[in-house]
Amino acid sequence: VMDLDGYYLPTFNELKNHEEELRSIPDWQARDDDLMICTYPKSGTHWIWEIVSMLVKKKAERVSAVKETAMLEIMAKATLDNMPSPRVLNSHVYFEYLPKDFAKRRCKIIYAMRNPKDVAVSFFNHHSKICEYEFSGTWENYVQRFLKGDVDYGTWFDYTQKWEKFMADNPEYPIFMTTYEDMKQDPLRQVTRIAKFLEIDCDQAFLQEVTDLCQFDRMKKEKDALGEQVDAWKDGVPGMYRKGQVGDWKNWFTVAQSELFDRVYQERMKDSKVQPRFTLS
Ligand code: A3P
Repeated sequence: VMDLDGYYLPTFNELKNHEEELRSIPDWQARDDDLMICTYPKSGTHWIWEIVSMLVKKKAERVSAVKETAMLEIMAKATLDNMPSPRVLNSHVYFEYLPKDFAKRRCKIIYAMRNPKDVAVSFFNHHSKICEYEFSGTWENYVQRFLKGDVDYGTWFDYTQKWEKFMADNPEYPIFMTTYEDMKQDPLRQVTRIAKFLEIDCDQAFLQEVTDLCQFDRMKKEKDALGEQVDAWKDGVPGMYRKGQVGDWKNWFTVAQSELFDRVYQERMKDSKVQPRFTLS
């Protein structure tokens, strides 16, 4: 993990000169038609990236690339510079670490959030199973860690509030907000909304096909079968498509852990006006 003045970012990437590249991201040039998916880790980024990639290509066809190949903090700038337009980029970094040129050009942003309790469970599994992290801590300790933001990408609370502030300060900005929970409840509706936001001219049958291709079981099976990134996972078992459910946190949190989480949430989010479509209890 790379420590950027107390902000931790993962280092499993193709970058040779990590720190220099990471520090230069805010100065990167954008393209007017760049699309950017912004999420705290484990909020459904792969899912949305797959959907958006199909929508912009207007092809309901499995994307063979992994979304990490379009990730700002993982790929070298030179590689991203060589990507054909429109680029479907993605990142988990705090708002201020994104290229300033994006906002200047008013590049479209898709921002998704997820119940932070489900995020914590998903992130725990991610940290436990990816070799690079060399992490073998307990869930009990992890809950504390997650709440403090003692993980790569910092705290969920700061991340969420920075985006909330950006949206409040820039009400006209072309940013589309969705939640993992809404996507699970009615994926076709969210795919349709995303297509509309991106001004993709297509019919209902295409939207349905994209939705079906990106349905969890299918995506897990077909993406895992591509066999990429297998070496990154302990025992060679790919774990990016883990369970894909809403509310799995109930199988992990004890009552005490859940109450602690709720207390920290209330305290940290007390000034937030975000009306998330998830219930913490
Ligand atoms: P779980 O660990 O709860 O299963 P990200 O892509 O931001 O890293 O988020 C990963 C989470 O999204 C994982 O959650 C993963 O299983 C879930 N996910 C990935 N693809 C999905 C899909 N097509 N439908 C629903 N959930 C999906």
